Amino acid sequence: MVKFDAKLLKKDFPIFQNKKNLVYLDNAATTQKPRSVIQSMVDFYENYNSNVHRSIHELGETSTCFFENSREIIAKFLNAENEEIIFTSGTTEGVNFIADAWARQNIEKNDYIVTTQVEHHANFLPWLRICKNSGAKLKFLELDKDTFFIKLPEANFWSDKIKLVSISASSNVLGEIWKENQLENIISAAHDIGALVLLDASQLAPYKKIDVKKLNIDFLVLSGHKMLGPTGIGILYINKSLHNKVEPYKVGGSMVQAASFNDVIWKEAPYKFEAGTPAISQAIGLGAAVKYLNENVDFKEFEKHTAYLSSMLIDGLLKIKDMKIWGNIEQIKKSGHLVSFSLPDIHAHDISGFLGGLNISVRSGHHCAQPLANMLNLQSSVRASFYIYNTVQDVEIFLDKLNETVNFFRK
Ligand code: ALA
Repeated sequence: MVKFDAKLLKKDFPIFQNKKNLVYLDNAATTQKPRSVIQSMVDFYENYNSNVHRSIHELGETSTCFFENSREIIAKFLNAENEEIIFTSGTTEGVNFIADAWARQNIEKNDYIVTTQVEHHANFLPWLRICKNSGAKLKFLELDKDTFFIKLPEANFWSDKIKLVSISASSNVLGEIWKENQLENIISAAHDIGALVLLDASQLAPYKKIDVKKLNIDFLVLSGHKMLGPTGIGILYINKSLHNKVEPYKVGGSMVQAASFNDVIWKEAPYKFEAGTPAISQAIGLGAAVKYLNENVDFKEFEKHTAYLSSMLIDGLLKIKDMKIWGNIEQIKKSGHLVSFSLPDIHAHDISGFLGGLNISVRSGHHCAQPLANMLNLQSSVRASFYIYNTVQDVEIFLDKLNETVNFFRK
């Protein structure tokens, strides 16, 4: 087994002290929080609770300083500039932001928006609505149903009518969907025809170091709670070359340079994009989460670790009669972090419900990717997903309890 001390990291998470037998494998839905993240938010409320960017008393200065410090930590983590990091409530708000504040003004009848067939609703429904309202059309990068990789589009797929390519870096149902360099090639093909690129990194950012400059993307969205942060906070990255081309999503307090009865001048980014009182404690919590990852996680070792756990899990699953795994098994064993599976004779909700009673947390359902589930004729699957505190022992217990579950329903 590769060297990665998940057992040691687990001690930093109070929930695992409080619930001794918990095997938590629902990390793609949300991760647990280390003590330092929880404490950063308690500190805020107990010692310097105050609004940001307004009040110039000591508490106001302190909270502004911690809030902006979080932005800086996150910017460095993604290799972005501070002003390119916009706090949102999560991935869903990030995509809706760009749909409303950029696409609504720039996408016209007969234009195309490109996405994939595997998207979570958050990176699909905003585009469906834009197309329905504008007369633009959706164009899909298709899934190869045998390999579970996205198919390379034909050269004639690309045209200057495509204005936006909005795709996930990794699927919340299937795991990795891009063969080596394919994502980079799609980004450059999109740029070649003048389209902008939005990357849904909610399933990638918690697992792999992202460099927005190297990836050369225009917009990126992620959710803080999937990478040790609290809920209610996420990041929208907008490349600074586009700051004047994107409208504020919300208008109101704090984002105004000057306002009169007739007109208004916005502040510079990021503030023009952050109207109203932000989620201050959550932003500070997300900064603490990224700091924890920086200090405790070697992402290369971590990838080997989740791949090892995934591999163990898949080998155990395949011993169960009629087991179907949804995703590219070879790729998941090489670098994956989640495994979705189903059995023809036991409903996924029955499996996850029964496992829940045995202290095992996994998700079941269509995972908010219903078009994909329909296309695969997959009503519901069970999904086990790993994070930094999951151990070999978690997988052993899971497989043991899963066998108990299957035997119960099959007897
Ligand atoms: N998008 C999250 C999931 O896949 C909530 O479970």
